[in-house]
Amino acid sequence: MTQTSGARVLVTGGAGFIGSHTVEALLADGAQVRVLDNLSSGKESNLPLGETSLELIEGDITDRRVVEVAMRDVTHCLHLAAQVSVIRSVEDPVHSASQNILGPVTLLQAAKEQGLEKFVYASSAAVYGDPESLPLAETARLAPLSPYGLEKQVDEQYAALFASLHGVKSLGMRYFNVYGPRQDPASPYAGVISKFVDLLSKNEAPTVFGDGGQTRDFVYVKDVARANVAALFSDHVGVCNVATGATINLLELLDTLRDVLDSDAQAKHVDGRSDDIRHSCGDASRLKSWLGFEPEWTLAAGLQALAAASR
Ligand SMILES: NC(=O)c1ccc[n+]([C@@H]2O[C@H](COP(=O)([O-])OP(=O)(O)OC[C@H]3O[C@@H](n4cnc5c(N)ncnc54)[C@H](O)[C@@H]3O)[C@@H](O)[C@H]2O)c1
Repeated sequence: MTQTSGARVLVTGGAGFIGSHTVEALLADGAQVRVLDNLSSGKESNLPLGETSLELIEGDITDRRVVEVAMRDVTHCLHLAAQVSVIRSVEDPVHSASQNILGPVTLLQAAKEQGLEKFVYASSAAVYGDPESLPLAETARLAPLSPYGLEKQVDEQYAALFASLHGVKSLGMRYFNVYGPRQDPASPYAGVISKFVDLLSKNEAPTVFGDGGQTRDFVYVKDVARANVAALFSDHVGVCNVATGATINLLELLDTLRDVLDSDAQAKHVDGRSDDIRHSCGDASRLKSWLGFEPEWTLAAGLQALAAASR
């Protein structure tokens, strides 16, 4: 028997990109899963809704009554639902805060009342801002550059406060750049890999801001799903990077993708964005020591799988 069997897990945002892969991993491990999602960007078709161990509640994380109902009889919660766009958080910080601060506080309060065994929630590498040095360990200075990053930092502070005030056990997952199938390339906020794959597979030129020397730590969504499951059933609390510790720059990424997709489309360079962080890389040692986690997917394997899924 795994730790997961017998668990009843609420996944908010479970119809979205990271959520739907994590729901699959939880079901495969024998958990009962309830998804709470307002389907604003998530889709029912991302979920295996025929499974008897899976239930979908269509509703909003900021609605206290809905959250109370969703939390009933649950043993663990993975909170992923959010306003996920950095750009939108700058344009409409009021809406963003209403989702990304009041949402988690509503969930934490319900988690406290339900006496959950574990509350795991999505933080982000955006809490770090422009790094002083790399790789970024969890102890690095936090200096978010957007309302989105600040909201995630505030969520971490609320989670720490609920731990000290009420004993709610939580782990905040600071995801770096997650990629993989079901990330919508049509969204203006999509990750760079899904946009590049979409354009190169149509032999259209992708846009690169600046010289393309920016580096990122890309982590495949199925690895992220495994890390989420491990976090739910681990005794560790606090915050943890979800990263590989390896980086690639955007020009190298494009070269690899051209090979994978058999495309010769060349990049269009436009002026660099002032909000673009030059280098990002997460220290993955806590992820390994706390959650026993090693990435199973190399970037090459993940890109192949994504390209195959996009055909
Ligand atoms: N994808 C990444 O690279 C990345 C990096 C860092 C952090 N994160 C965080 O991980 C989490 C999941 O991100 P994702 O990439 O899977 O995004 P996503 O947009 O695919 O998933 C978010 C899900 O939440 C749902 N949702 C949004 N607002 C809601 C609300 N008010 N009530 C109920 N449901 C709501 C959406 O319908 C969607 O299914 C988010 O908290 C995001 O900030 C993602």
